[in-house]
Amino acid sequence: MSDPATGNIYERAAARNATDAGEDTAPLAGPWTLRGVATEYTVVVPAHGRWLELVSWGPPGVAHGPSPACYTGPTPFLTAGDFAPVEYATDAVRPFTGADLVVETATGDRRISWRYQQAETDGGQLRVTFADPVTGLRAAHCYRIPAGTDVVERWVELTNTGEAPLHLARAGSAGFCVPTPHGARLSYQWGQWAQEFQLAHLDLGHGQFSIGSSQGVPGHSFVPWLAVQDRAEPDGPTWGVALAWTGSWQIVAEPDTGGLTRVRVGRRLVDGGLELPAGGGITLPMVAGAHSDAGLAGLARAWHRYQRQLAGDRLHRARPVLYNSWEATEFAVDADNQLALARIAAELGVETFVVDDGWFIGRHDDRGGLGDWTPDPVKFPAGFDAFIAQIRALDLTFGLWVEPESISPASRLYAEHPDWVYAIDDRPITPIRNQYLLDLGRPEAAEFVHSTLDGLLRRHDIGYLKWDFNRPRTEPGRPGAATRLDLDGAHVANLHRIYAALRRDHPHVTIEACAAGGARTDLAMAAHADVFWPSDNTGPLDRLAIQHGFLHANAPHLLSSWVTDAVGLFDQRPRSLAFRFVLAMAGVLGIGADIRHWTPRQRAEAASWIGRYKQIREVITHGEVHLIGGPDQPRCAVQYTAPDGDTVVVLAWHTGRLDGHGLLPSRPVRLPLRGLATDDTWRHGDDTYSGSHLTAVGLPVRWTADHDAELFVLRRA
Ligand code: DGJ
Repeated sequence: MSDPATGNIYERAAARNATDAGEDTAPLAGPWTLRGVATEYTVVVPAHGRWLELVSWGPPGVAHGPSPACYTGPTPFLTAGDFAPVEYATDAVRPFTGADLVVETATGDRRISWRYQQAETDGGQLRVTFADPVTGLRAAHCYRIPAGTDVVERWVELTNTGEAPLHLARAGSAGFCVPTPHGARLSYQWGQWAQEFQLAHLDLGHGQFSIGSSQGVPGHSFVPWLAVQDRAEPDGPTWGVALAWTGSWQIVAEPDTGGLTRVRVGRRLVDGGLELPAGGGITLPMVAGAHSDAGLAGLARAWHRYQRQLAGDRLHRARPVLYNSWEATEFAVDADNQLALARIAAELGVETFVVDDGWFIGRHDDRGGLGDWTPDPVKFPAGFDAFIAQIRALDLTFGLWVEPESISPASRLYAEHPDWVYAIDDRPITPIRNQYLLDLGRPEAAEFVHSTLDGLLRRHDIGYLKWDFNRPRTEPGRPGAATRLDLDGAHVANLHRIYAALRRDHPHVTIEACAAGGARTDLAMAAHADVFWPSDNTGPLDRLAIQHGFLHANAPHLLSSWVTDAVGLFDQRPRSLAFRFVLAMAGVLGIGADIRHWTPRQRAEAASWIGRYKQIREVITHGEVHLIGGPDQPRCAVQYTAPDGDTVVVLAWHTGRLDGHGLLPSRPVRLPLRGLATDDTWRHGDDTYSGSHLTAVGLPVRWTADHDAELFVLRRA
């Protein structure tokens, strides 16, 4: 049931709160409850009107009872705001325990505070505004739970209605408060190049936990995602936050001494703060909070449902099975070797052929070419369009790799526009991978990137674009700029603008986001791109760990994965071709091996797996995901339950974490399935199981050295 006037927001009659001292205080405004499918989020303006605070965040009805977050008792040597579950705090409200917003006046004064002004509930959006009578700063706290999700979207709109400029020394997007009476258990994802999305956990009783990036992209080191649980209930209620920002960022979690963990999320202002001129305004990046009662796996499902909504209609376009030539030919691309690969790929059932790096002039290795986006006539002597036509004649969509924000010092573009790159006057530029970075916030550079991509898509028959980014920003400067600039913010804003323009003008093109693997993965990119390349590491057991982490924060339709012959970097134990295929089927299947060297038997096996994938990919894309075990456990599988509930796909892998295998008596590994009605009957080949058996005992699988992966397709009888 939903209130037609306000969407899914409910305003209750003002409840009366009793303080610990017995004082009776009615809220000044609210409370308001935003409702999702299995979540509600309730906020209120307390009687003093100095901030908006959380009442509760949890399953439906959780607000009906004393707030688990509210605290009105003594706060020795601290202020009331340091302990209150404040939704968005200035440093006047939380001077000691971490503010979300720190503003300075022209004379350097801090401690800006504000008072409640008004609240609006319109079309499912709650907007609560506060204003500072001294500076004229207004802050609208905005909330929305998109229908059909358990994710609350939050963002803040700041307006300077005063007559003097303001400087934002810190501009976080939100604070989230989570009850953790026994201390916090945090789950996060760390990584490095070729080892992204490593899921890790940490108990935090006291102190701060901080992750982030100052690289101008989300980065390999951490994912802008965090899950929080009470230490005593690791499989129970779980809260998560994720940031929609493709630049530098920070997440800080800090439990107080009273059983509440507050998580601050937002941009990291690496360029020295933001200027808010008189009359100016800024909307800070959206941060999303998800809740589930079913642990980290349940939280993953909440993120998946939400990201499917972000994809909109594009979710319903089948992600193609692709071949990418990078691992086969690297920079030594030419028409002959690409066509040789494409012919085999087409025979295997591949649908899209992507020519990776190395197709343009000056690009013989990683030292040249970036910026000069013209097909190399030596590599394509009959012309690029004739080459594409030959690919298309194989009934393959043609895809192309680009890295439009990067520039080689030896390129023509750099010779013509040396001022377009990030640089600090009179200082050397730090090359990374032998390249510099375009200052995308510069209108001319943004126009160049947009017109380059738009031109490629208009001139050539291209249906797939892989947009790469292989170096972070080092020099935070724009030569000749008279004032301090928000370079990070301008880069991200133009990146998103260009994506939006390309999507609008070339709606049929699928775009894969990549940054030396998975360094540009955040909720904003999940909305702009179709799919992420999560890592350059395609070794089977390394990849298993990467994908396991990735799927905790991202839906399968976003997971691009290739079958290759790579052994991996960290865990090089051999695995079968079947293992590699079943693994790459966990999201969007691709092939990246040098298939010219595959035997007829390997090719036949590949064709068979691709055929099977096409039969199940709708379930992989739209199905409800249950993550079973993990890469460091004896059982490791992913269950996908089709939306109609009639088909269950299970992908399972032999992690090798078994004792006595093959020598000692051992029973099969069991994969317990989730979400099945106990009295349904399920069929897999000649075997039948009750839902009860599959849930309580599990699907049996017996691993051997030759049988190290399995694809189960269970049909409801
Ligand atoms: C890094 C990407 O992650 C790879 O897949 C490949 O596209 C290379 N760049 C090409 O330079």
